Amino acid sequence: MPEKPVAPAPPVPDAPDRSAVRVLLRLWPYVRPVRGRLFTAAFVAIVASCLSLVIPLVLKWMVDGPVADRDPGGVWLGALYLLLLGIAEAVLFGYRRWLVARPLSGVEARMRADLYARLQRLPIAFHDRWASGQLLSRGTTDLMLVRMFLAFPLTFLLVNGVTILAGYVLLLAQDWPLGLVLLTPVLPLVLVCSAFESRYGVVARRAQDQVGDLTTVVEESVLGIRIVKGFGRHRSQARAFRELAGRLRGTELAKARLLAMIWAVITVVPELAIGAALVLGTVQVADGDLSAGTLVAFLSTALALRWPVESIGFLIAMSQEAATATERYFEVMDADEEPDTPSGRDTTADGPGGVRFEGVTFRYPDAPEGSPPVLDGIDLHIRPGETLALVGGTGSGKTTLTALVPRLHEASGGRILLDGQDIALMERERLRALVSMAFEEPTLFSASVGENVLMGADDGAGEPELRRALGVAQADGFVDRLPEGAATQVGEQGLSLSGGQRQRLALARAVVGRPRFLVLDDPLSALDVHTEARVEAALREVLRETTALVVAHRPSTVMLADRVALLSRGRIAAVGTHQELLRTSEEYAWLMSGEGKDGDR
Ligand SMILES: Nc1ncnc2c1ncn2[C@@H]1O[C@H](COP(=O)(O)OP(=O)(O)OP(=O)(O)O)[C@@H](O)[C@H]1O
Ligand SMILES: [Mg+2]
Repeated sequence: MPEKPVAPAPPVPDAPDRSAVRVLLRLWPYVRPVRGRLFTAAFVAIVASCLSLVIPLVLKWMVDGPVADRDPGGVWLGALYLLLLGIAEAVLFGYRRWLVARPLSGVEARMRADLYARLQRLPIAFHDRWASGQLLSRGTTDLMLVRMFLAFPLTFLLVNGVTILAGYVLLLAQDWPLGLVLLTPVLPLVLVCSAFESRYGVVARRAQDQVGDLTTVVEESVLGIRIVKGFGRHRSQARAFRELAGRLRGTELAKARLLAMIWAVITVVPELAIGAALVLGTVQVADGDLSAGTLVAFLSTALALRWPVESIGFLIAMSQEAATATERYFEVMDADEEPDTPSGRDTTADGPGGVRFEGVTFRYPDAPEGSPPVLDGIDLHIRPGETLALVGGTGSGKTTLTALVPRLHEASGGRILLDGQDIALMERERLRALVSMAFEEPTLFSASVGENVLMGADDGAGEPELRRALGVAQADGFVDRLPEGAATQVGEQGLSLSGGQRQRLALARAVVGRPRFLVLDDPLSALDVHTEARVEAALREVLRETTALVVAHRPSTVMLADRVALLSRGRIAAVGTHQELLRTSEEYAWLMSGEGKDGDR
């Protein structure tokens, strides 16, 4: 497998000047249904956290009362109070955890389901542009980060903020000059935290994107394991993986360095202030200006505030990661869906029936600037009931042209009419019910043979339709020989089928719904000549009742068609019967002759 660089995620809006709060607010619609529980949990946590501030007051009472009076009974009573306070705090924190766990996993599940539904509805052009690992990591790691944020930092930023405020009020009430000493670190800490926040946001984003890249590499090498092994590329694949993993490790280390730095600052600076307050307080007690109990209470309040202050560093870090994750999530959710069809305009038929291409042009959205369009003014008419073969050199745009009919891609110019109706004005669902396709790459899902084929039919279809379709594709023979017949599981998690077998099931899927329009992209390429002949004989019956466009590379497939169109340099170069084109078009004769000449046309 070539060591191509992993496709980077599409450009991201500049990270540094985005506001984490604004990004996180976008989670509100998902959080709304569980807001009652979250608020209750936050309230419980605030009460629990403020209980810890009562402990110093009990200490003050003990030092100035029973301890000073040498009254053991009073000391025991104080100890009992302290124990009860500790138990109450622990119970309340446990209750909070219980309150949030279930609703938050619900939020995560809902967000994940929405992401999946969105991915199904986004246009092919979107999926062409995005590496699958990037999408996968958004649905897994990122959503986990969001859930963790809702469970922990969201509450505790609030709880700790309230606790710190309440603590400072207590400190100032006990002794305001000493309280002011402890207030001095606040301003520098706020400045350091905000600098940390924006820098951490950038690194967090990089790390999450790199997780996406890593996922892509793993996915590709698992899907392409035959190629990796067949070409002995496991070493270079492993090297590519190691390199990416190393890069991710570097980013994670950068995150850890930032976190260590903020942690150090947040720990040391308040500690210095507490030390200063201790010295000043001791001097005051010695001078008799302050009671020992007040100093004890003051210092233990300050110490009780240590955890709420220290934890702010990693709470900010987790919030930043959640903001980045949310941003990445909504990049997908905000991507443009397939443009909606203006409704109510799709009834007027104009012109004759069949399929008509009128001046259709198309270029891929991600094609390099200035490159010629893949399709450049296609004019083509397939009469009702007719089968038209589409022939052209490899890379001439045949697959692209067929994809325009069910609007897997939107034509950049011109229009396509089905029975006189512009497909751009048709409801997409109706259009796709009219048109059935078999693609070049036959894809089977992890499901039974029958389910895979019946995907192409209305919900009511059953055994008779299945048998008929399998018959047309000459697939009934091998399907009946499968261990459980049409109920055999196939696809990635089931039995592996041969290329020709998969191709015939894909063909059966295309014809099972008796579509009005049938588009087949080289449907018989993987079959031996005898099977091909039998499929063709059966397919002729089906083609008689539909209007069909069949991409063909071989004369035998062309024989299925009433007429042939030659696609060359983005245009229809010639239309006619096989015999006519053999006589009149040198390129067609060359394509059909199988004789070697120069490469791509
Ligand atoms: N998703 C895409 N994004 C950008 N360019 C594409 C995309 N798919 C195909 N192309 C380009 O469009 C051109 C036409 O491709 P297309 O697959 O339609 O050829 P084709 O006629 O079906 O070839 P083949 O006979 O090999 O199947 C090629 O040059 C190809 O590189
Ligand atoms: Mg093709």
